[in-house]
Amino acid sequence: MANKTKYFIGNWKMFGVPKSINILNKINSFYSRDKNKKKYKIVFTPPFTLIETFSKQFLNKKISIGAQNCFEKDPFSSDTAAVSPYMLKKVGAKYVIIGHSDNRSQGDTNTMLKHKVKFALRNKLKIIFCIGENNVQKKNKKTLAILRNQLFKVLEKKYDSRNIIIAYEPIWSIGTGHLPSEKELVLVINYIRQVLKKIFGKNIPPILYGGSVDKISINFFKNIGLIDGFLIGGASKSSKNFIDIIKNFYK
Ligand code: PGA
Repeated sequence: MANKTKYFIGNWKMFGVPKSINILNKINSFYSRDKNKKKYKIVFTPPFTLIETFSKQFLNKKISIGAQNCFEKDPFSSDTAAVSPYMLKKVGAKYVIIGHSDNRSQGDTNTMLKHKVKFALRNKLKIIFCIGENNVQKKNKKTLAILRNQLFKVLEKKYDSRNIIIAYEPIWSIGTGHLPSEKELVLVINYIRQVLKKIFGKNIPPILYGGSVDKISINFFKNIGLIDGFLIGGASKSSKNFIDIIKNFYK
């Protein structure tokens, strides 16, 4: 576990225009010089509008480009504004986030997520599958039951777990600066591992943490060896912040 490749994944959400590629250029040049570079992978998920140009720009570089979501039908349909996994693949995306709490709160159900995962994997995209409990569920001690349900209802044993990354993102921690305690996090991550083991057997996908990860909070997370990487929202919009997260992680 501890020696597995780590992931630093930047989720830009509704941020970025073509010239924002400068942020990735700076991160890429840091990466090329970093003595720790063999230990981790960098993925960025810009908005749909930038995927094609960014993918071309970073085709032979170390930063991989992904999408923040996809539609649950494939390859084409008559749904206005929908973008399918096939369409993402064709413009160069390598990864896709599925089940982010922003999209779950806008109506994504487990059934819809199941279709998204199926089609994304069929198109040879790697999925970053987000799970997490909200504040009320946490207060009512429902966290483990919620996570179990989110995993069991969507992931299938037949999938190749090498194409799957799990991101545990407690909703109450996203963009709020609130962090789980070490004890809570260890308990939850171990539980997620157990559930994933039931689904996939010994090939357990990497488990990332997301929620208020920045250059300060990374000092807390880096000591929890169970975490395979981070899904980073706000702090991924600045090259300096993102680079500082990696620097502090390996300090
Ligand atoms: P945050 O967002 O880092 O701004 O809390 C994380 C996410 O939503 O993926």
